[in-house]
Amino acid sequence: MKPLILLNFKTYPEAVGKKALILAKKLEKVKTKKYELVIAPSLPTLEEVTVGTSLTVYSQHTDLAGLGAYTGKISAEELKKIGVRGTILNHSERKVPFPVLKKIVADCKKHKLITVICASSLAEATEIAKLKPDYLAYEPIELIGGEVSVTKAKPVIIAKAVEVVKKISTKTKVLCGAGVHSREDIQKALQLGTKGVLIGHVVPKAKDPAKFLKEMLR
Ligand code: G3P
Repeated sequence: MKPLILLNFKTYPEAVGKKALILAKKLEKVKTKKYELVIAPSLPTLEEVTVGTSLTVYSQHTDLAGLGAYTGKISAEELKKIGVRGTILNHSERKVPFPVLKKIVADCKKHKLITVICASSLAEATEIAKLKPDYLAYEPIELIGGEVSVTKAKPVIIAKAVEVVKKISTKTKVLCGAGVHSREDIQKALQLGTKGVLIGHVVPKAKDPAKFLKEMLR
């Protein structure tokens, strides 16, 4: 299993509307044998990007909703139908109450949608591991969007999260994110026992996103 590099486009101006597909097409040219590259475009651009590129696409969120009388909801079943392969859940910018999260994870599993559940602390990670997601991403809120990588600021907690999660759910792979911005950050994350990273602002905001990403994945 190659380490996962999950690029969260959020709703950065450089990555929304028509720019989402333009950015995705630039990034699909970045070939890598070392990593599994996945992108998570904004919800309104999901299908266009999924259909328009060869990249694997995850949603930034999924609701507890089926096909039917659900207004303003993102359903796992519909995401699967449009070719989305997985979903981020409980990102610190889109938290989900635990009882609801538990039901969403079950629905994602039913529709074979890969789950990447975010945790802002070791305590939260310990709880979330009990849901046995495919991935658990440790992302301390205070480092998100910043210049200091979580791998530099919280190496001990990352290693602890890997240890704790493994004891609770052997199938769950741990990721980390927040401030990740260099090849060294990715290497350090892997040395600490994670199976990859989430990356937000540095790629869409780079002068040349594809060149920047290529260097990070070298
Ligand atoms: O989901 C990943 C994201 O929260 C990390 O953001 O901008 O610190 O890389 P950033």
